[in-house]
Amino acid sequence: MAAPMPARRILRCLSAVLLTLSSALATAEVADPNVVVDTSSLPPIAVNAPEGNPYRGNPRAAEIGRAAFNQACSRCHGIDAVNKGQVGPDLLKMDRSCPRIADPVVRQLCVLDQDDFFLKSVQDGKTRVGVVHMPAWKEVLSPAAIWTIRSFLESSSR
Ligand code: HEC
Repeated sequence: MAAPMPARRILRCLSAVLLTLSSALATAEVADPNVVVDTSSLPPIAVNAPEGNPYRGNPRAAEIGRAAFNQACSRCHGIDAVNKGQVGPDLLKMDRSCPRIADPVVRQLCVLDQDDFFLKSVQDGKTRVGVVHMPAWKEVLSPAAIWTIRSFLESSSR
């Protein structure tokens, strides 16, 4: 009959498991703190600005957003947001549904809702059952920087 496992051995096994788990957590996704997005050439966003992307349709913003995207997001969403099997969803398909809405008022509400979803997704990241699928960017990217990225994605939407 096999002797029962001594308590010390059980403890050693447990601590090995814990060590493996904690190193897995330590390598969890974080927002790259070296990303720099210069939005100083764009009009500042007024405190009481209306909701939604203030840079929609601004080609300079889209250009800044493209560079920002390729620094911060391309690793998981593809260079220029062209997803070639990266882990993240295809962001160029995000804006397909609103343009199909015939009623202009409802269409505008749809766009505002997408804007809000985008800003929050990027600021807070995506965590499911404790696993970070996408890091939170709010400490690294200003709202203005995030809107330039949204402008870039909209200008390339397909
Ligand atoms: C470490 C990989 C990673 C990085 C870096 C990353 N993302 Fe993501 N992103 C993901 C994953 C994975 C999802 C899907 C998560 C989920 O739904 O649980 C996601 C989801 C999203 C969504 C929601 C899309 C939808 O339709 O549900 C948006 C918007 C988004 N990311 C934008 C960005 C932007 C902008 C950046 C750069 C500032 C970025 N992501 C950087 C991995 C990443």
